[in-house]
Amino acid sequence: MFLKILLFTPFIFIAYLSGEEMISPIPLTIDYDDNKSRLGKLLFSDPTLSRDGSISCESCHNLKYNGADNTPVSFGVNRVEGELNSPTVFNAIFNFRQFWNGRARDLKEQVDFPVTSHIEMNLTVEEVVERVESSNIYRKMFHQIYGEVTFENIADAISEFEKTLITPNSKFDQYLRGGIKLSKEERDGYLLFKSKGCISCHHGINVGGNMYQKFGAMIERNMSELGRYTITKRESERHFVKVPSLRNVTITAPYFHDGSEYELKQAIYLMAYHQLGIAIKEDEVDSIAIFLETLRGELPITIRGNDD
Ligand code: HEC
Ligand code: HEC
Repeated sequence: MFLKILLFTPFIFIAYLSGEEMISPIPLTIDYDDNKSRLGKLLFSDPTLSRDGSISCESCHNLKYNGADNTPVSFGVNRVEGELNSPTVFNAIFNFRQFWNGRARDLKEQVDFPVTSHIEMNLTVEEVVERVESSNIYRKMFHQIYGEVTFENIADAISEFEKTLITPNSKFDQYLRGGIKLSKEERDGYLLFKSKGCISCHHGINVGGNMYQKFGAMIERNMSELGRYTITKRESERHFVKVPSLRNVTITAPYFHDGSEYELKQAIYLMAYHQLGIAIKEDEVDSIAIFLETLRGELPITIRGNDD
């Protein structure tokens, strides 16, 4: 079964055999424009950007904890129930596309969707611009930074702030950089993560976030979400979703696109079953969970020490 997956991805196979690390550390710092990011942070946390003034981006992407929320699916304006689990915005900058089905190319393009979605913030682009423009503080900031308030500039500021939301210095990254050793339990977990084949889909800087795969790659899983098929209408991509990042995964429950699983260990078990076609033992699940804990990084620099 494992071989079957590796055949899809010859380059990974080579890296695997050569013992090369397939996960790379999150950079300690990232270039960003401080003024734009400050403006973006205000917008990210501002419920004026929703129809009834009750919901901001932060309502579903908790910045002080995990960049996500802790409910299976998110609730938008008027407590309307969404359909999908909100992925964390932490390290989203490193994902090759945004959203479970990858319909936004990058963070800037992404902003349009939640703002105009009737189950999220439910405004038109024009209304957002009007609302932002009616604030003296915003008008002044936009004037100084961009010259004018446009939706593109709003999206630019928000995405500039999101760029800063990286969580460097996890124990695993320190290990990759050569600074520290993993404990025996952590190393054993990492070895299993590789030898069982998890790494064939969860690798790169985000330990995920760089390809689409079917949930049920080996053993079919019942799911209503059509994933990539919605975008491409290709039969071969039915139920394919972006492989989620496993960075900070121990604090981003519930799991999966539908938030159907609260227990990380059960999620690991289901992954082995559906994605690799194997039943893994309880102690192996425990061991992989110990490794995953080492992927928890520091809070983003623009959030740390902020108690407002
Ligand atoms: C009502 C809850 C809710 C609100 C409000 C909301 N989001 Fe989200 N966000 C979600 C959900 C659910 C998804 C996944 C949707 C999908 O994949 O189709 C998501 C996905 C994302 C992603 C993609 C992450 C990834 O890994 O694919 C980013 C980035 C993001 N949101 C940023 C924002 C920004 C910026 C705002 C405010 C302008 C915002 N969100 C408002 C719930 C919300
Ligand atoms: C064939 C590719 C593939 C393999 C192999 C694979 N995964 Fe996944 N993983 C995925 C996909 C796709 C999802 C998202 C499924 C969904 O929600 O629809 C996912 C989701 C997860 C999640 C939930 C993350 C979240 O935030 O919702 C965890 C945890 C996880 N995988 C761990 C593992 C572990 C541990 C292994 C090895 C036992 C593994 N995966 C093997 C593709 C894979």
